[in-house]
Amino acid sequence: MSRIVYVNGQYLPEGEARVSIFDRGFLMADAVYEVTSVLGGKLIDFAGHCTRLRRSLGELDMASPCSDDELLAIHRELVARNAVVDGMIYLQVTRGNPGDRDFAFPDASVTPTLVLFTQSKPGLAESPAAKVGIKVISIEDIRWGRRDIKTVQLLYPSMGKMMAKKAGADDAWLVEDGFVTEGTSNNAYIVTGGRIITRNLGNEILHGITRAAVLRFAREAQMEIEERPFTIDEAKAADEAFITSASAFVMPVVEIDGTKLGAGVPGPVAKRLRELYIDEMRKAAI
Ligand code: PDD
Repeated sequence: MSRIVYVNGQYLPEGEARVSIFDRGFLMADAVYEVTSVLGGKLIDFAGHCTRLRRSLGELDMASPCSDDELLAIHRELVARNAVVDGMIYLQVTRGNPGDRDFAFPDASVTPTLVLFTQSKPGLAESPAAKVGIKVISIEDIRWGRRDIKTVQLLYPSMGKMMAKKAGADDAWLVEDGFVTEGTSNNAYIVTGGRIITRNLGNEILHGITRAAVLRFAREAQMEIEERPFTIDEAKAADEAFITSASAFVMPVVEIDGTKLGAGVPGPVAKRLRELYIDEMRKAAI
């Protein structure tokens, strides 16, 4: 069945959706995005994703295509039109189509491009990978210095996923100056002696919306949290590890660079946080 997607004010069958070859998203990766999960036909942490979208747009001096209320209406319309029960909504805003290629930003008469589409993932919250955990490798973090802005410059993260695949792993953790920044498309955590350790916020990592919610739930559950950089050696010696993202929720990591963590099975902290996160977010979904 063909999806109905959204492009600049129109709902269209995916095969009829068009964006110009001069669009700066296509030519310059001059675009930001968000991924919001859908569980039971409802949006998970929509407000968080809107807030970060506004921040990304602001940091790049990019115009906003519409209000948060309009974005919510588009998300809901796409969920309804595509009968999405569990899955994701991808949203992208680009600096638009100036009609030619030019490094300089176009003037304000060029309107941003807004594209949204759904990805149906039945049983998203019951992922088989969460039951056994994933394996990660470490690779050098050679991305640009503003990883706090959610841009579509995803070539290196894609290469990282391919390096992981080639090595028989599921994902890669990025390492800069000896310390883990984050995963290719997720935030990274280790657990030692019951204490959750994850990189502090800064320009080096994306400020994960799932990260913020998971740390909030962990604090409410009286778990100890340390926000600081950690090394791969520290991670290999940890009791457990996990990642968070809008699409993976809380996903246990059981192996790093071929070294099994503990017994090599998902740890109790990751399992508990996954349950807590999914339960709480289902309740708060809109
Ligand atoms: N990725 N770090 C990076 C580099 C990411 O790309 C993502 C999200 C995260 C987690 O952020 P959040 O919890 O807000 O999803 C951290 C999305 C899911 C993606 O690119 O598909």
